[in-house]
Amino acid sequence: MILYAGIIAISISAVLYTTTIWGERFFIKELNKALFVLFAIGFLFDLLGTGIMTQYATINADWKHIFFGRIAILIMAIHFVFACFARKHKRMAAWFHNGSMFAWFIWMIAFVTGIMIK
Ligand code: HEM
Repeated sequence: MILYAGIIAISISAVLYTTTIWGERFFIKELNKALFVLFAIGFLFDLLGTGIMTQYATINADWKHIFFGRIAILIMAIHFVFACFARKHKRMAAWFHNGSMFAWFIWMIAFVTGIMIK
């Protein structure tokens, strides 16, 4: 089923996104080029996975997944825009740093609500 491809894409995105956000905060302490590239690839997989899910949804997922799923893609997109500027502008880097855990947490709610779909 093609929905499985969406789930695999989203799971790859989850690993890359988590590595970026946790790496920036706890290990490398700045958004270096490698983390930025991981984020960009993770964002592409997010677009792909969410696109497939939206396109091929048939069972009417519960409202929580639909709601958080749509918010999650928006949040990751905004977060990615911040990441694009963070490497050049100190203020954007600070905003990226301060907001990243919140954005990641909301994104993870969408992920968990997806796992909970029966
Ligand atoms: C942050 C990650 C995720 C995002 C952004 C996301 C987003 C979405 C969106 C927007 C839909 C379409 C809902 C609709 O219009 O009916 C959807 C459907 C779905 N998602 Fe996700 N999803 C995520 C993670 C997951 C995960 C981890 C799973 C399973 C392990 C999953 C399973 C599903 C399934 C089975 C559907 C189809 C439900 C239906 O047929 O109505 N999702 N997702």
